[in-house]
Amino acid sequence: MLTAARNEMLTRVGPGTPMGELLRRHWQPVGGASELDANPIKPLRLLGEDLVLYRDRGGRYGLIDRHCPHRRADLSYGWVEENGIRCSYHGWLMDETGRCLEQPYEDTVSPKPSKVGCDAKAYPVKECAGLLFAYLGPQPAPELPVWEPFTWANGFREIVLADVPCNWFQCQENSCDPVHFEWMHDNWGHRLRGGDSNAAPKHLKLKFEEFEHGFIYKRVREGQSEDDRYWTVGRVALWPNGFYLGSHFEWRVPVDDENTLSVAWFFVRVPKGREPYVQERVPTWVSPLKDANGRFITSHIINQDIVAWAGQGRIADRSKENLRSSDIGITMMRKRFFEELEAMAAGKEPAGVIRSANAAQCIELPNMTREINTEGITLAEFDEHPLLRLRLQRFPFHYGQPPEVRRAFVEAMGIAEG
Ligand code: FES
Ligand SMILES: [Fe+2]
Repeated sequence: MLTAARNEMLTRVGPGTPMGELLRRHWQPVGGASELDANPIKPLRLLGEDLVLYRDRGGRYGLIDRHCPHRRADLSYGWVEENGIRCSYHGWLMDETGRCLEQPYEDTVSPKPSKVGCDAKAYPVKECAGLLFAYLGPQPAPELPVWEPFTWANGFREIVLADVPCNWFQCQENSCDPVHFEWMHDNWGHRLRGGDSNAAPKHLKLKFEEFEHGFIYKRVREGQSEDDRYWTVGRVALWPNGFYLGSHFEWRVPVDDENTLSVAWFFVRVPKGREPYVQERVPTWVSPLKDANGRFITSHIINQDIVAWAGQGRIADRSKENLRSSDIGITMMRKRFFEELEAMAAGKEPAGVIRSANAAQCIELPNMTREINTEGITLAEFDEHPLLRLRLQRFPFHYGQPPEVRRAFVEAMGIAEG
């Protein structure tokens, strides 16, 4: 249980708030590069700040104040040029550093127009593995961590976004909550498919550890032993708002105190014999969350998670909880975040921030299924694998995969649609 004041510390993300400052010390994934193919400008609210993300015709990414530095028109209705984004109201042109390059009327009537003080707030953006990452913190920016899966070849990758109507921290608490798999995805999933039993293997034992990049949770369920990779390797919650499950990442990126952008990156290696496979473009799509009746869609794994996250309220009231031993991962995570907030207030660098370019280049994480992704398996082995067999049949994580993405996946895998 947490007091209201402690809960605010965990959940407030605006500029100047302790957690907002901690989150700003990390590069945050904000979308897919391919999103900007059709329209190179995207309005984006991040950590309580209204911004505009764009790619100019010179290929540079920018993330700047959504409001023009002139008289605050909405730059998401502007257009991009060779070098920057131009406001549609009076034509001011800004580049990716926020510098105001042109003020057409002033430039016409004045021999030496001064643009001092006319710059826009701007944040750096980097592309990696099809994702766009932004850094909203103080300079110098830390290294962008290149997680090992981003370097894997011969795979089909896709990025899925979802607009989750609740605070980011309750989403991230789910990254250290193994017991929910048994109930939310297994027993409830079974009932959603017409079943009528709570027959999923029970969790028998849990363990949580901290490592350099976050936390690892380990579990033993009925039918498993401590020799199983779920216990010997485990799964990973990344500092501060990531989750890694061996072939995919999820980040819970705060939009503001009451909204979260879920950014997920997926990888499936093509079956042996299909290499070399080079994916020209990593597709990005947005998963719808509600049905025609305004109820949450429950058919897919992360949609189910979202039912839990959003169901806790816009900002979960942690003064009304009853934490038990199933929640030791949650307690550990909160405690460590509070310690990190205190350390930051004392001038220390938060955990997980990487300053060494070498260290950031290809970061290996605990991974239960590494060889499947680095060495590959045959199509026959896919068919024998309980999870991967289904993965070929349908995208199980998010509702709403567009048909063109499915077609590209089927083509990459060399399987028949059916
Ligand atoms: S408000 Fe943007 S140019 Fe005037
Ligand atoms: Fe889940």
